[in-house]
Amino acid sequence: MINDIIILAAGKGTRMRSQRAKVLQLLAGLPLLQHVINTAKSLANSHLHVVIGHDAEEVQKRFSKEQLSFVEQREQLGTGHAVAQALPVISATGKTLVLYGDVPLVSRATLENLLNSIDENSMAVLTVLMENPKGYGRIVRNDNGLVTAIVEEKDANETEKLIQECNSGIIAISNQALHYYLPKIGNNNAQKEYYLTDLISLMAQDGKTVHGIKASSVAEVTGVNDRKQLAELERSLQHQLADELLTAGVTLLDPSRIDIRGQLRCGQDVIIDVNCVFQGDVTLGNNVHIGPNCVIGTMGKKVVIGNDSEIKANSVVEEAIIGDDCSVGPFARIRPGTTMATGVKVGNFVETKKADLGEGSKVSHLTYIGDATLGKNVNVGAGTITCNYDGVNKFQTIIGDDAFIGSNTSLVAPVEIGKGATVGAGSTITTNVNEKELAVGRAKQRNLQGWLRPEKK
Ligand code: UD1
Ligand code: CA
Repeated sequence: MINDIIILAAGKGTRMRSQRAKVLQLLAGLPLLQHVINTAKSLANSHLHVVIGHDAEEVQKRFSKEQLSFVEQREQLGTGHAVAQALPVISATGKTLVLYGDVPLVSRATLENLLNSIDENSMAVLTVLMENPKGYGRIVRNDNGLVTAIVEEKDANETEKLIQECNSGIIAISNQALHYYLPKIGNNNAQKEYYLTDLISLMAQDGKTVHGIKASSVAEVTGVNDRKQLAELERSLQHQLADELLTAGVTLLDPSRIDIRGQLRCGQDVIIDVNCVFQGDVTLGNNVHIGPNCVIGTMGKKVVIGNDSEIKANSVVEEAIIGDDCSVGPFARIRPGTTMATGVKVGNFVETKKADLGEGSKVSHLTYIGDATLGKNVNVGAGTITCNYDGVNKFQTIIGDDAFIGSNTSLVAPVEIGKGATVGAGSTITTNVNEKELAVGRAKQRNLQGWLRPEKK
């Protein structure tokens, strides 16, 4: 059986005070709507429909690669009206879930629970107990515990306002019931809106069952309306992610000072020092040690760090495959397309880009290695630059096994240094060097005897 999932994302989000649609605001590095889409997609056999309105073009563009259909709601006349825009494309049978683009953390388990609780003739609402229920629709239950109505704050009387069980907005309903009852919703209420929540009273009055299912946490159903709520939800999510890492056996020197924007997978006995940010798809092997203040990864990109490797303080690894037993930093910048074999050392103030560093090679200080391939056990001295760019095109530098590049060398690409070759310090290398040769490309030193220093006049 295929489920339809309707995600409401047409609202403007005025309180964000932003040029962008609210659902495009970032939580843990991803748009709010992306979180909802990811969770929705984790449910088997589902068709996703996203109702867009404000900033529709931008939203559609941002999610154009996802397998989903967009439905436009030109005027925002209420949640019931929003769902009605999608109704023509909802199958006659099956079940529908209604989710919200600005309620990003609802879990798959909860949604499965909601779907499983209903049959062809009923619906379920996801509810939550709020200490301060102000602004939420209140859940009215009968003696049997079934939900009979949801009353919006603006329409509630004094007794109803005391109810602490609130509507999260998320519902599951049989498609049959949705097709039958949704067109019956009117807008005769305080806000002159078509309330999706009126489905509940319509069905209850008809003797249909409406379940109220309690959410497992408040964070799960928390919606984002302003920057403050966004910041609070970000912290709450980061704490949750840190907790999961601790439980999985990762050492965090301070669980409140780590940020994960994407996916971080860790082997055993990983140690992560304070103030590290992980972005995109990051995998750390066993015994990896990440020093303080490191930024590892880029959104949408991949970083793999092998067993027993260490990234020292203040390093930035953008996109790279780092092997076992490597040492990077402090203050290194590892740019996209870098690969390091086992036992590579990249030290302070070294930048690499599109560079393959062979087993045991060392680039210890103040160096740029770009568009380059280094063999095994190459030693690159301080201040070496691969001059890979002539202002128009990029060129390759290839350095063979066991080569030794003296300090302050400029390797003008395209150029090849043979295996076991040596380059004298301060050389500018413009032609290939053969195996085991010594190349010296610098002005010969002159010592002038009897030279007099100028004197002050
Ligand atoms: C809604 C519920 C309320 C619940 C609360 C939880 C109704 C009538 N009320 O109230 O019971 O406690 O959510 O947060 O459903 N949207 C559209 N098109 C519209 C209107 C809304 O796409 O025409 C989207 C908004 O972008 C938003 C969501 O639906 O993501 C909720 O709309 P909002 O107006 O914020 O509903 P609330 O008044 O908060
Ligand atoms: Ca230099």
